Amino acid sequence: MTASPGLLHMDQPLRAFYQFFLDLLIFTFKSLFYILESLYHTILPQRFRKLKNVSGQVVLITGGGGGVGRLIALNFARLEARIVIWDINHEAIKTTSDLLAKHGYNNCKGYVVDISDREQIYQRAAQVIEDVGHVDILINNAGIVSCKPFWEQHDRVVQNTYNINIISHYWTVKAFLPHMMSVNRGHIVTVGSVTGMLGTYGCSDYAATKYACIGFHESLLTDLKAHGYDQIQMSLICPYYINTGMFAGVRPRMMPMLEPQYVADRIEQAVLCNEVWCVLPNSIRLLTPLKCLLPAKMCWELMSRVIRGPESMMLFQGRGRVAAG
Ligand SMILES: *[C@@H]1O[C@H](CO)[C@@H](O)[C@H](O)[C@H]1NC(C)=O
Repeated sequence: MTASPGLLHMDQPLRAFYQFFLDLLIFTFKSLFYILESLYHTILPQRFRKLKNVSGQVVLITGGGGGVGRLIALNFARLEARIVIWDINHEAIKTTSDLLAKHGYNNCKGYVVDISDREQIYQRAAQVIEDVGHVDILINNAGIVSCKPFWEQHDRVVQNTYNINIISHYWTVKAFLPHMMSVNRGHIVTVGSVTGMLGTYGCSDYAATKYACIGFHESLLTDLKAHGYDQIQMSLICPYYINTGMFAGVRPRMMPMLEPQYVADRIEQAVLCNEVWCVLPNSIRLLTPLKCLLPAKMCWELMSRVIRGPESMMLFQGRGRVAAG
């Protein structure tokens, strides 16, 4: 920040104080505007909002062969985007492109990628740029969960969970961000989890990678904004359990699992409206401050007695193998 010309004759401490006061004043006025804007967006139905035009844009979805990823692909195909699917499973990619074809969208391209392999990511990324073009919207959606208490987690599975759930984000973003920076336009979506806001039973690997997703999103967003890349949007999506089979068996006591279509629709909306942080369901936002404010013993009582978190997680079956979603 530079001092206003009128302040230059003052001595240094006084000038610093005035500058700080000025910044605070501007912050207050802008904040009022942002709060009103946010209220306005909450009240206004979505169809009246100005939405981003993604027609013709390249949307790449990791883990697009299954679960929510497949539905995101269909949603963006409906918006006339060009869809690129990355998945480790060839059959799953085919199922997604068949689904899109059934709805009349034939411009979906799929690539078999093991995103725990950095070299493979770079190689496939170069191939995508050559085949389809630069990626406009990158959706880092792929993730795995094993859901075991810490002492039962295999070293290999822990490592793989990190590689897929967070380390891969570095390589995919490194591959596609340079072009976004050169045109100051683009969108990066990080699919985190409510487990990245509140750790839970059997998730010492999974939750830690999702916490890392949040740190990654917030810091990269800061880097971009601080260096003037204000038209590269970033959205962080933190969903509660989704009913895709990824958390099969888990029976939450308080809140039913989210439907995959709902999550895909909210991710689409987050992109179209440039939402920065989207918690699903939104009511979970109210829980997060509690863990900072309430006594730790009370939090445990709430988690174990009222929400019955650990108990419901112990019913986890997943997809039989380590599941990708
Ligand atoms: C959206 O973008 C496409 C491609 O750039 C363009 O052809 C189309 O007219 C745009 N639609 C609207 C409603 O602006």
